[in-house]
Formats: sequence, C-alpha cells, structure tokens
Amino acid sequence: MLTVSDNDFGNLRSHDDSENGVRLQDSPVRTGNRLPLAKRLYVALDYDNLDDALRLVDQLRDSGVSFKIGMQLFYKTGPVVIERLRETGCEIFLDLKFHDIPNTVAGAADSAAALGVSMLNVHAAGGIEMMRRSKQAAVERARQSGMKPPLVIAVTQLTSTDQQTMNEQIGIAGTVADTVVRYARLAQAAGLDGVVASAHEILAIRAACGEQFVTVIPGIRPAWAAANDQKRIVTPAEAIRLGADYLVMGRPITHAPDPQDAVRKILAEMADAAKEIL
Ligand code: C5P
Repeated sequence: MLTVSDNDFGNLRSHDDSENGVRLQDSPVRTGNRLPLAKRLYVALDYDNLDDALRLVDQLRDSGVSFKIGMQLFYKTGPVVIERLRETGCEIFLDLKFHDIPNTVAGAADSAAALGVSMLNVHAAGGIEMMRRSKQAAVERARQSGMKPPLVIAVTQLTSTDQQTMNEQIGIAGTVADTVVRYARLAQAAGLDGVVASAHEILAIRAACGEQFVTVIPGIRPAWAAANDQKRIVTPAEAIRLGADYLVMGRPITHAPDPQDAVRKILAEMADAAKEIL
C-alpha cells in the first residue's frame, strides 16, 4: 500500500506501491482549482462512432461533466464530434498527444485550438521548443478567434510504460517517477499549463512545479468498478485528496449499466473528499 502524507513531498520513490490504491494520512493536499467538481471530471469518449458518443453526452449533459475525445473517435469522425459537443456547452479535452518537429506540432496546436477545445496535449519528449511553440500557437489562435486559450498539457511517461520498458527499450535511465518529474519541469519551462500523469506522481510534481501547475490524472477507479487494464489505480476520492486538478475516467462510466448513476456516485465521492481539504 502506498501511503502518502505531507512529509512525503518529493520522496515518492521510496514508497512500496506494489498494491493498488493510495492511503492518505492526515494533512490532505490542496489544489487551487476552483472549478466546479463536475467540470474537473473528464469522461473519456472512447467510442468508434459518433452516435454512441453523442448518446452518452446527451445522457450526462445535465451533470455538467467535461468530455475527452481521443484518437479513436477523432480519427473516425473528424472535427464534427467537437462541433457537436460544443453545442452542449461542455468543456472538451482533445487528447491527440502531438509529437513531431516543432513547426508541425505548432500547426497542429493551431488547428486544434481553432476547434474551440478547452485542453489539448503534446508529448513532453518532443522537447522544450516543440512544447513552447505549441503553446504559443494555441494561445495565438484562441486570441485571434476571440476564444479562451486552451490549457496545453504535456504527456509525461505513459502509464502503460513500466521502468523496465523505459530503461531497456526506450533507453531512459532511472525510475518512472524521476522521468515524470523531469518532463514536468521541462513542460513548465516551456510555458505549458500542466501534465498528464499517474496519481502516484501528483505530490512529486507539485513539489517540483508548484500548486498552479495543472495535473490531469487517468487510471482512476471507484471502489465499485472493475480495474480493466489499468494497473496503478486510485479512487476518485484519493485523486481529489492528492490534489488532482482533473480526473479522466472512461469505462467505469461508459460501460456502466447506468452511466448517469455512475457519474452521480463519482461526483458525490469527489465532493466528500473535496470537503476534507477545504
Ligand atoms: O476507461 P479508462 O478509465 O481506463 O480510460 C482512461 C482514459 O485515459 C483513456 O481514454 C486513456 O486513453 C486515457 N489515458 C490513460 N493513461 C494515460 C493517458 C491517457 O489511461 N497515461
């Protein structure tokens, strides 16, 4: 069991996190994020067609949650899915994880920002210039279009990569936590707004990059949901207590027999945890 307290800032590497879940002791972590909790929950629309995605959006629209569109759906439907979601007034995270030469990624960020999304992401492994130019392009496009600039977020080390794969195949030495924090610092130096990371790295990222640097956290499972292929999971309450700004959750909602009820339960759990840290 991974046990986290205030004393653990910056020292997560020593934890035994072989079991799932994070047990919090006293002094919960605060986040400066003042958005309504529902907006901080991004439901991953991992569908292969527009109809299924829009059906779920329609079911959940009254809850006020936000939605994440990933590669599968976007490459199937193109921008129309964003246009349809924008009609509902929800926040949209376009999760296409850009990684190419700086000029190309800046162009992609410009195109994505023109769609009116609230958040988009690039790989930190693309380096500072790539990240900086993507942020500049997104901000400039939003300014020219009279829209709020999207948050530009860096993907750190994918949660599907373990230390052995990272060390032996990708050729990056050290622990996953070291790499995540290094990428988070790079992203901050490039002017990005935050990172996607596992909940297990939130405290180390906050210690390195401060309270204003945004964390976007997938790998979250309510106690009543199946883990699926996610390994180092935390519950919604644990993610909030650890200081996650945004929670990304797919199958516990999209595969639930009653997605509205699943969202109600998740938001109630998040609200209870948030009360503890006010
Ligand atoms: O269904 P589930 O809750 O596992 O979905 C998690 C979502 O978060 C998926 O859309 C997945 O692509 C995304 N994600 C992730 N791990 C990362 C980055 C993104 O699970 N490191």
